[in-house]
Formats: sequence, C-alpha cells, structure tokens
Amino acid sequence: MAVYHNWAVGVLMIITATSAGFAADLPVTFVFGDSMTEVGNNNFLRNSLAKSNYPWYGIDYEGGRATGRFTNGRTIGDIISSKLGIPSSPPYLSLSPNDDAILRGVNYASGGSGILNETGLYFIEKLSFDDQITCFEKTKEAIKAKIGEEASNKLCNRALYFIGMGSNDYVNNFLQPFLADGQQYTHEEFLDLLMVTLEKQLTRLYALGARMVVMHSLGPLGCIPSQRVKSKTGGCLKRVNEWVLQFNSRARDLLLSLNSRLPRARMMFSESYDIVYDIIVNPTAYGFKVSNTSCCNVDTSLGGLCLPNARPCRDRTEYVFWDAYHTTEAANLVIAERVFADHSTGVSPAPAPAPAPAPLSHGPPITSAPAPSRSRKFMG
Ligand SMILES: *[C@@H]1O[C@H](CO)[C@@H](O)[C@H](O)[C@H]1NC(C)=O
Ligand SMILES: *[C@@H]1O[C@H](CO)[C@@H](O)[C@H](O)[C@H]1NC(C)=O
Repeated sequence: MAVYHNWAVGVLMIITATSAGFAADLPVTFVFGDSMTEVGNNNFLRNSLAKSNYPWYGIDYEGGRATGRFTNGRTIGDIISSKLGIPSSPPYLSLSPNDDAILRGVNYASGGSGILNETGLYFIEKLSFDDQITCFEKTKEAIKAKIGEEASNKLCNRALYFIGMGSNDYVNNFLQPFLADGQQYTHEEFLDLLMVTLEKQLTRLYALGARMVVMHSLGPLGCIPSQRVKSKTGGCLKRVNEWVLQFNSRARDLLLSLNSRLPRARMMFSESYDIVYDIIVNPTAYGFKVSNTSCCNVDTSLGGLCLPNARPCRDRTEYVFWDAYHTTEAANLVIAERVFADHSTGVSPAPAPAPAPAPLSHGPPITSAPAPSRSRKFMG
C-alpha cells in the first residue's frame, strides 16, 4: 500500500492516473468539516448561532458576498480545489434532493460541529460529523436513483473525500470549562474518545464507498486569538498546542491502521500544523504584520466572530487572523501554497509516474516567502 508523504502528491497522482487527461473526468469531491471548510450549510439552519452570512464576512469574496464562509474571502478548501483544477462543491443544504449537481460533489461542512455530537451544543443547530455522514448516505441514495447502483458505487469509490474535523472538539468543547467533557475527562481519556469515535466515522464512510480520503491536521489552536487572550502575556497556550499535536499524531496513526485493514483504502493525512505555526511565529517572513490578534476587532468574550458592528482592519492582507478563530484569505493562500509546495520531497515508496505539474500552475503566484526547512511530519 502506497503511503504518501504528502496528500497533494497522492491526489495529483490519482487524478493523473484515473482521468487520463480527460477534462470531463474531473474528480468528484465530498467535503466534511467545520467552519474552516463550510461554504454555507448553516445559512439553511434557522436556529444556528454559528453563521457568517453577514458583513464583514466575504468582503474579499467574489462580489463581496457573505456566503457563509468564515473568512473574508476564500477558504483553504476553495484555494486547494482551484489548484487541483476542480470547482468548490456547493453546500448540501442548498441543493434539492435530486439536483444533478450531486453527481459532481457536495460540501457537508457545518460551522460549530465536531467529531463528537455534543461539541458546539450552544450553537443550537449544526451538522455534526455523524449528521454529515448521514447526509452523504442520502446523497448516495439519490445518486443511485439517478445512475444506478453500479455506477453510483463506482462514482463513490473514485471520489475524493476531504475531512477537516476536530478543532471544535477542543475550542467549543474540551477547552470550555463549563461543559461536561472538559470536567469529566482527562485529555488522554478525551483523546481516546475522539479516536474511537473517529474510527467508527471513517469506517462508516468506507462502508459507503469512500476510498481516497484526505484528513487535514489540526492547526496550532493554542495560538488562535480566542485562546491567546486566556494567557497573561498574550502568548500561545503551550498545553493546548501539545494536545493538538497529540491529536494529529493519533489521527495519522489511525489512518495508517485503517489503510492496512481496509482493502483499497487510501487515507492520507495532510499535515499543516508546522506550516501554520511558522506563519504565526514568523509573520513578516510571509508578508504579514500581525499574527497575535485578529483583523476584525472582535469581542472574544462574546463569540469572537466578526459582527456587522465591528471594525475590520484597514489592510486585510497584513493579518494572519480574520476573527478570533479563522485565518484571513491572505493566510489561507499562503497555507494552501505551502501545503502544495511540499511536493518537492515526493512520495514513499518511490513515485511511479511523476505527478502532473499542470494543476499547480492554476491560480496566481502567492508569495515570495522563503521556504524554511522543517522536520517532516507527514505519514510514512
Ligand atoms: C450522534 O448523533 C447521531 C444522530 O445524529 C446518532 O446516530 C449517534 O448514535 C450519536 N452518537 C453518539 C455517540 O451518541
Ligand atoms: C501583539 O504583538 C505586538 C508586537 O509584538 C504587541 O505590541 C501587541 O501588544 C500584541 N498584541 C496582543 C493582543 O497581544
């Protein structure tokens, strides 16, 4: 079983191998996640308090529209999709059940959600990871009704599954002292619970046909503005970052173990902790001025989102963070670019055909930032 040091290399090789150059055969993508990857599902949940469909969100998006993305412009997922040469999938809740668009991919991500059902409960309504998988199950039924069982199985086997989950299990659960999980469990026990739950979820996705899965690592949550304000000095919370690194390491091991147990599973871990951490501690190396507070002058004691009455900073490209949780589009561009730039070291075992360079030339050149060498933490 090939284990890719870098998921982007793996994905590009798969696309190259399966599409044989036919543009019509673009990979179908199904996206699961939280506010980092949401593209507007919560807009359709009437009682959800995790929404971003108002100014100043989207101020740098096409037409300056607030779409339900939790940033000022494009998400990392939007940028990565365009690098892979595929469109961003639409929000599940925006589609009618038998919309033809489901044949091209769907985004189930929902702000405030997590691996655990109880995560983010104070947002009232959101789609937890379990809910999102249930929505995918319905999508699969609808695809089957359209194109038949054999073709729908094939489509689901060949699709790409992106997963970005777990941040809220910390930020909107374990790190909230008034919630049960933070009081009931030690971190070790909590992490065990997350991994047992994640294993069931990934196995369920596999049973529904998922083979090529890219799971994104958590970033340095101890350094996001909503956590920094808890430190006396305004610095990163070391203990939180250590927990996140443990989560990443356990999640990566879980994927490896699933790959060895589940025939034809190709689950890849996309490690971006180091990349994001480096941008935060060396902002000027990447063209940023501020990484310790957000562009929007949010009230961290009151949700930390960028509300219409808040004042965004003048130059949004100078800030790494947009609100108390989410990175700016400028930071997302650098992160996506760095995730791709890690191509250089290739795959293990030795690459068969070289990955197609073409998709990398999509999109504008991002940054003249140097690429500091780092220890590699990719799978393998
Ligand atoms: C989480 O909620 C879903 C329904 O949304 C349910 O099927 C599942 O069993 C729940 N998980 C746990 C661990 O309670
Ligand atoms: C951010 O860092 C700058 C420069 O190091 C410092 O002056 C400022 O007080 C810090 N802001 C916060 C919110 O910690």
